[in-house]
Amino acid sequence: MDPSQDNPTVRFKAFFWALALFALFGVVLGILALTNRKQPQTLEDIAAVSRYENLDKVNGAQSAQFSYKEVEAGKTVQVKPQDVFALVGQKLAATKPSAVEKPEQVIPGTAAAKSIEEAAKNAAPVKVVETDPNAPIDPAVMDAGKTEYALCQACHGPDGNGVPGLAPPLAGSEWVNGPVENPIRITLRGLGGPIEVKGVDYNLPAPMMSVAHLSDAQLASVLTYVRNSWGNKASAVTAEQVKAFRGEVGLPALQASDLKSPH
Ligand code: HEC
Repeated sequence: MDPSQDNPTVRFKAFFWALALFALFGVVLGILALTNRKQPQTLEDIAAVSRYENLDKVNGAQSAQFSYKEVEAGKTVQVKPQDVFALVGQKLAATKPSAVEKPEQVIPGTAAAKSIEEAAKNAAPVKVVETDPNAPIDPAVMDAGKTEYALCQACHGPDGNGVPGLAPPLAGSEWVNGPVENPIRITLRGLGGPIEVKGVDYNLPAPMMSVAHLSDAQLASVLTYVRNSWGNKASAVTAEQVKAFRGEVGLPALQASDLKSPH
């Protein structure tokens, strides 16, 4: 290049033009990215979004519930953050929803849809014979049930009165004291969505997960225990009754509307 043409002013201007163009390009890209933000498209996206929403809700409920504790009337202490985090972690691990939870999220005709249909067929209406509500309850079963209740207690509270923001009461609950199949199916499949208990509407952030890892005998004892504690009075639950519903394990969590009306 002819050095006489090397005009610093021109170079300076050209540089700023280039800079301006570059910046403009960035702004346009930014606007495009913002306006083009898509709604979640795939089932995985939807599941991921709901997982994050769930996480937010659980975190909120947990910290509201546990970061401050009333140790005696009018005296509140702050619970150590690490204790709160540990508890939140436990709850989240326990309630982590599966990627595809509801039959309507499943693409028809796929293997997943077929296995859900298959499971639903196996879960054809089961008939259970209710045990005599007036028969005396075996104290050994009550003891065993009390031990198993430690699991339920984490959410439903030591006296079955429920925990605000976490789980509804079992004491006096029509779902507990009503038809035996309701508490059996709830524990085998889990329960989510709005539910009315003792005239109060609950819509809790996290569903109850299935506790089907407990054996028929363990579930029978814990259900006998909750049906006959804190003023509850209902027939004992037998391992045979629980076994009759085992076929439902693995099906999506129940909603209150899937249960037998307790009224
Ligand atoms: C991780 C917390 C958690 C644990 C552990 C848990 N539940 Fe639940 N339970 C819930 C929630 C949340 C609901 C309300 C579900 C809904 O939103 O529809 C519920 C609802 C119920 C209901 C129906 C509503 C009512 O209040 O009567 C029964 C019965 C029940 N649980 C029994 C049990 C038993 C028995 C155990 C122990 C084997 C247990 N739960 C363990 C959270 C839990």
